[in-house]
Amino acid sequence: MDRAPPKSFHVKSFGCQMNAYDGTRMGELLEAEGMVEAGVDTADLVVLNTCHIRERAAEKVYSDIGRLIRREAAPAPMIAVAGCVAQAEGAEIPRRAPAVDIVVGPQAYHRLPALVRAASAGGARAAIDTDMPALSKFDALPPRRRQGPGAFLTVQEGCDKFCTYCVVPYTRGAEVSRPWGAVMDEARALIDAGAREITLLGQNVNAWTAQDASGRKQGLDGLIRAIDRLPGIARIRYMTSHPNDMTQGLIDAHADVETLMPFLHLPVQAGSDRILKAMNRSHSRDSYLRLIERVRAARPDIAVSGDFIVGFPGETEADFEETLSLVRAVGHAQAFSFKYSPRPGTPAATMGDPVPAAVMDERLQRLQALLNEQQHAFNLGTVGRRIDVLIERNGKRAGQRLGKSPWLQSVIVETEAAIGEMLTVDIPAAGPNSLTGVIGRQEAA
Ligand code: 5AD
Ligand code: SF4
Repeated sequence: MDRAPPKSFHVKSFGCQMNAYDGTRMGELLEAEGMVEAGVDTADLVVLNTCHIRERAAEKVYSDIGRLIRREAAPAPMIAVAGCVAQAEGAEIPRRAPAVDIVVGPQAYHRLPALVRAASAGGARAAIDTDMPALSKFDALPPRRRQGPGAFLTVQEGCDKFCTYCVVPYTRGAEVSRPWGAVMDEARALIDAGAREITLLGQNVNAWTAQDASGRKQGLDGLIRAIDRLPGIARIRYMTSHPNDMTQGLIDAHADVETLMPFLHLPVQAGSDRILKAMNRSHSRDSYLRLIERVRAARPDIAVSGDFIVGFPGETEADFEETLSLVRAVGHAQAFSFKYSPRPGTPAATMGDPVPAAVMDERLQRLQALLNEQQHAFNLGTVGRRIDVLIERNGKRAGQRLGKSPWLQSVIVETEAAIGEMLTVDIPAAGPNSLTGVIGRQEAA
């Protein structure tokens, strides 16, 4: 049965920053097709850009589909499931949720317009595309549209590391770096479209490598140095990094590239060598700690962030205490921590020796209490300083703006300054989750 082609769309992204980037690009693609962006309650087409990293993230898609079918403001929309759940579950999704019209994987979303046309033409089955053509999607995407001051730019995708708990090598495929020219062109386009800060994204972003315009092999540090030279760029960030790909060149860039912000997201996951081995992390507790020392030697004020998993199969109380002691040794500016979630198809899912749910809960609470304490302490460390803040959006109240410090802290400033301005502010106070900034009084000359 034919149905009217959708005129409006809404993209809802879950999960990591790369999914946020993909969601933005899907929106640009649908706009280029003449569709307009609308709210989730009224859009003719809703794209659920899903995350498969943990079970709870993956299950959200089904509750969202249920809500869309029952929405009241407009008839049920055409529903597309994109992202990593689409890649992992494919045809299983419309079997379980027949209201789904389109299933499109993270490497195939440049074909979304064709899938929408196929779904509009009707037919009993959902339109499914979970191909993994290496990188061709980027060539098929339209130019970048107007940007806020902070933009994401995917430079590397996929993972060859095969940590035993992780679905990413299966949902995003093998490690692939985008070519030099494509990345530099996109960086220039983002700056032209209003971006002042660019965050280079990749599942293993520091594994990025390509030949530059003169045929020389470059790593992420070379790319950062080239973006630093683009007129109009104020700040560069990158995430997520793997400890084994942290080259001396990249560490050195933290010492001498002024636009490279003093922030490093470098997940370690656990503090016990026995568990790191079972996770197939290919680094040890000690090699991680030495790496952090080298980074701090280059950039003493760097904010270290990380990811942690508690309750990996076989984790004992002694193993967990080694995670706590590693956290104490590092001192984090912020971090994310999760309960282990068995993922279908990963080696850890069949390891046995599960940690009881109540034990996982208790360990997560203890770890998060320590990480929260460290985050607050890090924030308090900026009190009394004068720092640069890139204003990103309006605050809750009139005359209030929200921005980011160099160390990725949220800063609340009483000001009428425009979005995208870089302000110099004094920090009189800090809470666990944000800093207060006041426009610095100019000292008399
Ligand atoms: N269970 C819990 N957390 C996980 N992560 C990845 N896979 C799992 C899993 N199966 C966490 C890791 C990773 C972050 C993105 O998600 O900490 O760094
Ligand atoms: Fe989630 Fe990983 Fe996919 Fe990002 S790449 S959406 S974290 S499963």
